[in-house]
Amino acid sequence: MKIAVIGAGYVGLVTGAGLASTGNKVTCVDIDEEKINLLADGQVPIHEPRLEQLVRYGLAKQNLSFSTDLGRAIRSSKIIFVTVGTPAQVDGRQDLSTVDTVCEQIAGAANGPKTLVMKSTVLPGTARKIGEKLQTSRHKIAYVSNPEFLKEGSAIDDFLKPDRVVIGSEDQDAIEEIETLYKPFLRREENILVMDSASAEMTKYAANAMLATRISFMNEMAAICEKVGADVEKVRRGIGTDRRIGNGHLFPGVGYGGSCFPKDVSAILYLAELLDCPAGVLRATQHTNDGQPNRFVERIKKHFGDKGGGSVLGVWGLAFKRDTDDIRESPAMKTVKLLTKNGFSIKAYDPEATENAERELDTMRVMLCRDPYGAVTDVEALVILTDWPEFSNPDFNRLSTLMQKRVIFDGRNLYEPKTMAQRGFLYCCIGRPTADPST
Ligand code: UDX
Repeated sequence: MKIAVIGAGYVGLVTGAGLASTGNKVTCVDIDEEKINLLADGQVPIHEPRLEQLVRYGLAKQNLSFSTDLGRAIRSSKIIFVTVGTPAQVDGRQDLSTVDTVCEQIAGAANGPKTLVMKSTVLPGTARKIGEKLQTSRHKIAYVSNPEFLKEGSAIDDFLKPDRVVIGSEDQDAIEEIETLYKPFLRREENILVMDSASAEMTKYAANAMLATRISFMNEMAAICEKVGADVEKVRRGIGTDRRIGNGHLFPGVGYGGSCFPKDVSAILYLAELLDCPAGVLRATQHTNDGQPNRFVERIKKHFGDKGGGSVLGVWGLAFKRDTDDIRESPAMKTVKLLTKNGFSIKAYDPEATENAERELDTMRVMLCRDPYGAVTDVEALVILTDWPEFSNPDFNRLSTLMQKRVIFDGRNLYEPKTMAQRGFLYCCIGRPTADPST
C-alpha cells in the first residue's frame, strides 16, 4: 500500500517506520528541510529506543522515504496519515491550525480517491468539521480517526504490538482498508475496535484523562500515607491486584508531564466547560498535578530550614520520564526551576535530556553535568526526579564518599527506605515513611 505520513515528528516517525516494516511504501513528509535531510540519511533527531534502527531498516528496504514535497506525496499515495502537532493555547484550547492547513492541502492536491487517517490528537467533533472541508475536493476523501496510544520510550513496541487499535469512521471501505494495514501487528482481531469517528476521538481523551487521573489520585493517596505512616508502595500493590483496578499508571511521584497528559487534560476540560458539562474530577486531577512539584520542594525546604537558600543540591533526571530526551511539561524541570527560585544551586545530570534542558534553565544556578557522580560531588542532598534505569542501582559507597551529606529526596521511589537507612542515608521519598539512619 502506498502511504504518506504528514508530519515527521515523534508520532509520524514511529507510524511511518512501523508501517514500512510490513512492506508498505511510506513517504514521511515535513516542512523542516534540515530534519528531512537527516532522516533520509538514517539519523533520527529524537531519542526513542529502536526508532533509528527501524528507520534505517525501512530506508535499506526502500520502503521508507523522506520528503518536503507534500503535494507529490499526496498524489502518489492512497492513504494519508496526518500526524502534525495540536499544541495547547494558553486557555487550554487546541491549536488546530496546522491540522486544518494540512487537510485543506490534501483536499486540494488529491488526484483520485484517498483515505485521510487522523492520528493527531483532536477534540471530539473535529472529524465532522474536517469532513465538511474534505467535501470541497474534486475526489472522494474518506476520513478515519485513528488515535495513537504510543508511550515515549516504548513507542516502537506499542506500535508493533499494540494492546488495541481504534478505527473510527463512517466509511466502510476505509475501515476495511485501515484494518488490513493494522492486521499484521495484532494477533487477535478482536483488538481492532471499530467505531464512529466521534467515539474514537473521545476514546483517546478518555484514555489519557483516566491515566492522568489515576496518577493524581495516587499522589493524593501518597500524601495521606505520609501523614498516617502508611507505605504507598504497599497500598499500590494492595489495590493493583484487584482486577477491577489493575496495576498500570498507579506510581506516585512528582507528577505527570510530557506532550500528552497535561495538554489533553486541559483540552478536554476546556471542551467540557464550553459544553457546560461537569468536569470536577478532571479539574482536581489537573490541580493536584500542578501542585505536585511544589509539594516536593516544600519538603526539601523544610529539611534545610532557614539556611536552605544557598545550599547545593544534586539532581538526577530532567526528562519528563525515563528513556526519552523530552522535557515538555517535565515535572523534573518544574521542580528544578522551583528549587533555584528558592535559592538552591543545582548540579544536574540526565542521560539524554541535558541538551534540551540547557536551553530552558538558568545556567547561573544550574550546572549541567556529564555523569551522575559529577552531579553529586560536594552536594548537601541528592534529588531524584526521573526514573531512569541507570539510577536504580548506583554505587552507594561512591555516593557516600562524594556527597557532603548523605541525604536523598527521591521523587520516583526508586529505593527501599529500610535498605537506604542501613546504607546510612536519610531517605525521603513519596508516600513512604522517611528512612533515618540515626533513629
Ligand atoms: C501517554 C500515554 O500513556 C499514551 O498512551 C499516549 O499515546 C501519550 O501519552 P507518554 O506521555 O509517553 O504516554 O508517557 P506515560 O508513560 O503515560 O507517562 C506520562 C507521565 O506520567 C510521565 O511524566 C510519567 O513519569 C508519569 N507517570 C506515569 C507517573 O507519574 N506514574 C505512573 O504510574 C505512570
